[in-house]
Amino acid sequence: MSPDPRPARRSFDELRQTVKVVKPVDFQDRYREYLEASDEKPVLAAGLAPLLRRGSLLDIGAGSGDVPDLLDVDQETYTAVECQPEFVRLLRDKGYRVIDDLFPCQVGGPFTNVLLCYCLYGREQCELLIHAGWAAVAPSGQLLAVTFRDHLDEYNSLLHRVGHTNRGGLDVHYNFLTTTFASLGVLTTHVWTSYIYSRDLAELAGIVSFMATNSNVGTLQRRAEIYAGIMAERRYVDERFRTVAGDYRLPVHHHVFVVAKDVS
Ligand SMILES: C[S@@+](CC[C@H](N)C(=O)[O-])C[C@H]1O[C@@H](n2cnc3c(N)ncnc32)[C@H](O)[C@@H]1O
Repeated sequence: MSPDPRPARRSFDELRQTVKVVKPVDFQDRYREYLEASDEKPVLAAGLAPLLRRGSLLDIGAGSGDVPDLLDVDQETYTAVECQPEFVRLLRDKGYRVIDDLFPCQVGGPFTNVLLCYCLYGREQCELLIHAGWAAVAPSGQLLAVTFRDHLDEYNSLLHRVGHTNRGGLDVHYNFLTTTFASLGVLTTHVWTSYIYSRDLAELAGIVSFMATNSNVGTLQRRAEIYAGIMAERRYVDERFRTVAGDYRLPVHHHVFVVAKDVS
């Protein structure tokens, strides 16, 4: 018998081993700085509020809980999943129920709303999280995901210009997400825009270089290279993002996928 040419399908347990969340050593401090310089969380909360269905909410990768804080969620029906001990402590101090684990994991449920907000890293991991998230959605519920798009918006154009990404103009990740979400149920999409505000170029370069390397593959060396690259692009940045008052305002676009199990 000739060997089966198809790659062997990997078991859930094997795939689960590939899920990793790696953060830079100074993540907590730099993330705080980022939150202070940006209106991202208020923009996300304002966008999510009318989309969430009445019922329970599973927030996968809840971080420091800024979005549920702003949404003023009902703590009885809210459950966070978080794998970073500092954030788990913080969320519990705020009174939230927290599953202290790396998703996919046992979450109970099912839930009316399952949220994947900025925790989709890498294709394989992404696919696993999306399917496991969908499995936790109740029959009358929905899966919501918020992520960046690898496309030439202002933020990605700047990173592309300083050599951080060679994917400018391509939309591989976004297309993969669209196809994956659409294969699950009824898909609607939204785009929301927040801004990074900074007093000077150095502050902007610090924030953008942190954001770009705040992932499993990011390194401090890469962050330093991006920082230097942005500092060397003063004219380009000033022409686009400097305000008349002399400070900076960089738009960041958030791409939102909502997949419903039913059509309500
Ligand atoms: C960029 S933060 C976003 C936090 C929050 N969702 C928000 O938008 O404000 C991503 C968070 O998700 C957590 N995370 C990512 N993947 C995870 C996983 N597979 N299981 C549990 N937590 C995860 C990280 O530890 C981090 O705190």
